[in-house]
Amino acid sequence: MRLLITAGPTREPIDPVRFLSNRSSGRMGYALAEAALATGHEVILISGPVTIPPPSGVQLIRIETAREMYDAVRSHLLGCHTAIFSAAVADYRPAQTASQKIKKTADTLTLQLERTEDILGSVRSQFGFQGFLVGFAAETENLVAHAQDKLQRKGCDLIIANDVSQSGIGFDSTENAVTLCFPDGQTTALPRQSKTALAHELIHIISSRI
Ligand code: CTP
Ligand code: CA
Repeated sequence: MRLLITAGPTREPIDPVRFLSNRSSGRMGYALAEAALATGHEVILISGPVTIPPPSGVQLIRIETAREMYDAVRSHLLGCHTAIFSAAVADYRPAQTASQKIKKTADTLTLQLERTEDILGSVRSQFGFQGFLVGFAAETENLVAHAQDKLQRKGCDLIIANDVSQSGIGFDSTENAVTLCFPDGQTTALPRQSKTALAHELIHIISSRI
């Protein structure tokens, strides 16, 4: 099986030396890539800037912005049987990127932001992907309801829902606890464990559903 996995944060430039981003470490996506490779699958990993090393044997494509991730997904998706979207894509980017470093002149500064491309949301509707589609949902409240809504809107076969209000799991952590949400309304809770162990369980569950 050939898998495409997105991972890590995106960076949206404000000026030549500054950007908007988030705390994603990329660990969940990299652990999924490693688990898939260990199971004998082929993996294309499309990754924002992270500090962890890529698993050996992966086809790594490095990107910075949401737009670059969108383009990379579009050009590598066809031919993949499964796509897993674990990246923490910026929802907004500066409407303009200053060509020179912004100097501190005024007492306040307002940045105008515009929406980025919804990459996962484009996969069925724009790219015509017909394979098994897995998204993540980072939520601080109404975990399952919000995840089910994303599953429907983005045409996913599985949403891995993450309660990001709990400290020590999820974003920027080595451990995670998730709830799997399926299109038939079924949910499965996977308890707190290392992202490595969780990734193996997730790849096993995804493989068994295909
Ligand atoms: N995602 C994406 N492109 C974006 C935003 C999100 O591909 N521009 C993907 C993420 O990788 C994840 C899923 O969509 O698999 C859900 O991301 P999340 O941030 O939880 O949902 P959003 O649709 O961005 O909604 P919100 O942040 O308002 O909850
Ligand atoms: Ca978001």
